[in-house]
Amino acid sequence: MFRKTAHKAPVGVGDFGYLSDDVIYFDSACQSLRPQPVIDAMNEYYTRFNSCGDRVKYQWGQEVDERVEATRSKTLKMLKLSPKKYFVSFTVNTTYGLNLILNQLKPEGIRRVITSDIEHNSPFLSTITFSRRHNIPREVLVRNNDGSIDLDAADFSDSVVVLNAVSNIDGRRLENIQKLAAKVRAQKGIFIIDAAQAIAFDFDILAGIEADVICFSSHKMYGPSLGVMVVRKDLLDQIDISFIGGGMVDDATYDDYALSSKSPDHIHTAFEPGLLPYAEVIGLGAAIDWLLSARKTGGKEKTLAQSQKLFDFLDASPRIRLINNAVSPVLIFHHESLDSHLLAEALSGQNIMVRSGYFCCHYYLDHVKHYPPLVRVSLGLHNSESDIDKLIEALQKVAQ
Ligand SMILES: Cc1ncc(COP(=O)(O)O)c(C=O)c1O
Repeated sequence: MFRKTAHKAPVGVGDFGYLSDDVIYFDSACQSLRPQPVIDAMNEYYTRFNSCGDRVKYQWGQEVDERVEATRSKTLKMLKLSPKKYFVSFTVNTTYGLNLILNQLKPEGIRRVITSDIEHNSPFLSTITFSRRHNIPREVLVRNNDGSIDLDAADFSDSVVVLNAVSNIDGRRLENIQKLAAKVRAQKGIFIIDAAQAIAFDFDILAGIEADVICFSSHKMYGPSLGVMVVRKDLLDQIDISFIGGGMVDDATYDDYALSSKSPDHIHTAFEPGLLPYAEVIGLGAAIDWLLSARKTGGKEKTLAQSQKLFDFLDASPRIRLINNAVSPVLIFHHESLDSHLLAEALSGQNIMVRSGYFCCHYYLDHVKHYPPLVRVSLGLHNSESDIDKLIEALQKVAQ
């Protein structure tokens, strides 16, 4: 399916030059395509200084250390958070990050765990297991149509609050995130943000939000497959570090060890057992640079205009039920009589890749809303207006 041709990419012409003009990828909410500079940065690691970081004294390792450190700094800068208060650890994905925190959080003093109805299974299920393990009640808040939470009614005292900043169902944003973060803090709660969707398209919503933890996936922000955890330093007092191994200790005796994360320079090791995927971390650094420059050159506006065109078509199609309340890079719908999986297969037959099902949001989509399986079209910065036109044309044919 892939061949080298000049591509019609809207941002940084040639950055998706490996993608053939006749395939259309609409699954960026799951995994965005990687622009060439990200692939090049990873290749550079493999071909110029492929070595271990954080432990070795030879030149290659020092190059790795510098670049990994640069990615940590860029991450905090992008989120407008101070390195005095926060550190960055790398893990596998958002799901791992959330589980690493919830599985190691000391339950003393925690009265409740709170999440919301429009969460991905990552926070939804990990809050269930947290609640069961510690016999702590769990509450599922109902998000408003605009994605906000009714703060007057909410009580966050001594609670762990795990919420997405942007939903993967329909792009709904936690509009009052700033006030919510302040209230959680004032009520001595712990606020954990699932930023998996926010980080690519809506990272501004996170800027300067002083949560306790922010977890996201590099693979949804044009970077390699990798998880990122941004953690408030003083939260470590409430973490019982027990998922542990090489790279995390300065010393080990017969039946004890000294954690490296006690030292300010190595605090990130608290959540980094074993070797890191260094090429991926370095690739993430390149992805952040790329994403910020795409933002400056109008990438977000282009995507929104494309999405608006599709939204208007779906909204006006008599046999299609559009679920979104508002335009976002993620649109979901179903046809009144065509099964969504069959529709996705039919579109795939025309080289158009969309998702079908419940997108790991079974509770809300199936059990609250009772929707049939849905089709999800999620746009990325590699998409062009002609991709939308082709999808509309294909839907007109298939859905008639
Ligand atoms: C809002 C949200 N949270 C969590 C996740 C889980 O991300 P990952 O599979 O990278 O752990 C996703 C993935 O789609 C998501 O959209």
